[in-house]
Amino acid sequence: MRLLVLGARGMLGTDMLQDWKSSEVIPADSAEADIRDIAQVRALVSNVRPDWIVLTAAYTDVDGSEKNSDLAFAVNSTGTENVARVASEMGTRLFYVSTDYVFDGAAKRPYEPTDPIHPLNVYGASKAAGEQAVQNYSWDWCIGRTSWLFGASGASFPQKILKASETQPELFVVCDQVGSPTFTRDLASAILRLICAEARGVVHITNSGTCSWFEFAQEVLRQAGRESIRVLPVTSREYPRPAQRPVYSVLSPASLSRYGIAMRNWKAALPDYLQDLRQVGKIK
Ligand SMILES: NC(=O)c1ccc[n+]([C@@H]2O[C@H](COP(=O)([O-])OP(=O)(O)OC[C@H]3O[C@@H](n4cnc5c(N)ncnc54)[C@H](OP(=O)(O)O)[C@@H]3O)[C@@H](O)[C@H]2O)c1
Repeated sequence: MRLLVLGARGMLGTDMLQDWKSSEVIPADSAEADIRDIAQVRALVSNVRPDWIVLTAAYTDVDGSEKNSDLAFAVNSTGTENVARVASEMGTRLFYVSTDYVFDGAAKRPYEPTDPIHPLNVYGASKAAGEQAVQNYSWDWCIGRTSWLFGASGASFPQKILKASETQPELFVVCDQVGSPTFTRDLASAILRLICAEARGVVHITNSGTCSWFEFAQEVLRQAGRESIRVLPVTSREYPRPAQRPVYSVLSPASLSRYGIAMRNWKAALPDYLQDLRQVGKIK
C-alpha cells in the first residue's frame, strides 16, 4: 500500500514516518507541495500515485489563528479542499486528521462523531471547514479527530512544562479545561490500523483517560522525577489566551472500538514519550 503523508515533518507526521515501516510511505511537506496551491498538489499526487493521502498538514497555531485567520483558513480549509479535489480526480482515498476543537465543550459526556460541531475559535472553525471540504469533494474518505497531542518532535504542552520547570520553581496551569492527551506514536499506529481496515466516516482517536491541563502538567513532572516543582491551578479566566478553548473536549472511543482498536491510558504512554525525549536529547 502506497501512502502519501502531507505534513510529514510535523509532530504527528514525523512519528507516522518512523512507525509505518511496513507500508510504502512517501513524505511531503510545503517544500514538496504547498497545499494552498492545487496545481502543486496535483503535480505531487500524479507523480506519487498513492492509494491513500494522509493529510496531517495544517496551520496548527491555535492562538495565532485568531489574528492570522486568513492563513488558518487558506491552509486548513482551502488547502484541505485542494487535497480532497485532487484525491477524487486521481481516485485516491483520503485520511484527514482533525481536532476536538470543532466542539464547543458544552457536552456532559464524551463526544461522539455524530454530535453537532460548533467551534469556539478560528482554528477550530478552519478545521471544521476542512472536514466539510473532505466530505464535499473527496470520493472516499475517513476523518480522524484527535486531541491534545504530545510527541517528541514537536513543541507540545508537556515539553513546555518540562522546559519551564528548569527555570521556574512554580508553574501556573489551567485547571478548568478537560480533555484527553494523546501520544503521537499511539495515534500514528491507530491511524495505520484504520487505513488497513479501510475505515470510512468520522472516527475519534485519542488515548484513554481524561484530565485537565493542570493534572497533565502534574503527571508529566511526577513521571520526569521533578515533583519538587509546584504546579498551581488557575482558571481560564485568570489566564486568558487569544483563542477561547472548550472546557470539555473528551472524545468517545466507541467509533474506534468498532475497528477493534483500544488505546492505552495517556499516563501509560508518558514513559515512552519521556524516553523519546531523552533519546533526542531534549531532556536528561
Ligand atoms: N497539536 C495538537 O495538539 C493537535 C490536536 C488535535 C488535532 N491536531 C491535528 O493534527 C495534525 C497534526 O498536528 P501537528 O501538531 O503534528 O502539526 P505540526 O507539528 O504543526 O505540523 C504541521 C505540518 O503541516 C505542514 N504545513 C503547514 N502548512 C502547510 C502548507 N501550506 N502546505 C503544506 N504543508 C503545510 C508543516 O510543514 P512546513 O513546516 O513545511 O510548512 C508541518 O509539517 C493537524 O492536522 C492538526 O490540526 C493537532
